[in-house]
Amino acid sequence: MKIRTTEFVISAVKPEQYPDSALPEIALAGRSNVGKSSLINRLIQRKNLARTSGQPGKTQTLNYYLINEEMYFVDLPGYGFARVSQEQRKQWGKMIEKYLTERRNLRAVLHLIDIRHPPSAEDVMMSEWLHHIGLETCVVTTKADKIPKGKRAQHVKIIREKLQLAKDHPLVVFSSEEGLGKDELWSWIEGKLS
Ligand code: GTP
Ligand code: MG
Repeated sequence: MKIRTTEFVISAVKPEQYPDSALPEIALAGRSNVGKSSLINRLIQRKNLARTSGQPGKTQTLNYYLINEEMYFVDLPGYGFARVSQEQRKQWGKMIEKYLTERRNLRAVLHLIDIRHPPSAEDVMMSEWLHHIGLETCVVTTKADKIPKGKRAQHVKIIREKLQLAKDHPLVVFSSEEGLGKDELWSWIEGKLS
């Protein structure tokens, strides 16, 4: 996609705050620190439109980014961050669940998994749950630059097995650092917008 305009629109915590719009939305799910905000920045070639941080748990709201006045990326709060209270976790869980099950503009979800590690129990749960509610998903294995090229296929194999992905389930090996996977992921996303 040729990026003409990008705009941060709103940090939403409840449906009334979601944009009053019928534009298609692509959401990003994944554990805290997996690289969701960095991936958005790389896809739209902006250094820091989506706030990134070495501090996990930074994104605690649904953050809407409008692209070309044509579609939104919705950066979801990361799961699996230890240093938050049970109560807060429950709140986030509810908010994410509500969005994923009820938002009609939602076209597809990018499910981000760190390529370096086998998926966690929470990754597996999220994956099962996304399939269960019938959302289109693309698994994106992030931070590919952190392991040698020759080892990536083996890591991807383990991730596919652990998440029980069908052979033809979309999966993109990605690096926000190097831009690897950017064109492939954009073409998958564009296929979901029409
Ligand atoms: P939360 O908002 O806390 O849920 O995290 P997030 O998933 O948005 O992660 P974020 O994009 O903020 O990235 C977390 C850290 O990982 C930052 O220090 C990034 O610079 C780093 N990071 C993200 N993507 C990559 C990548 O592809 N390669 C490398 N080497 N580092 C990355
Ligand atoms: Mg973030």
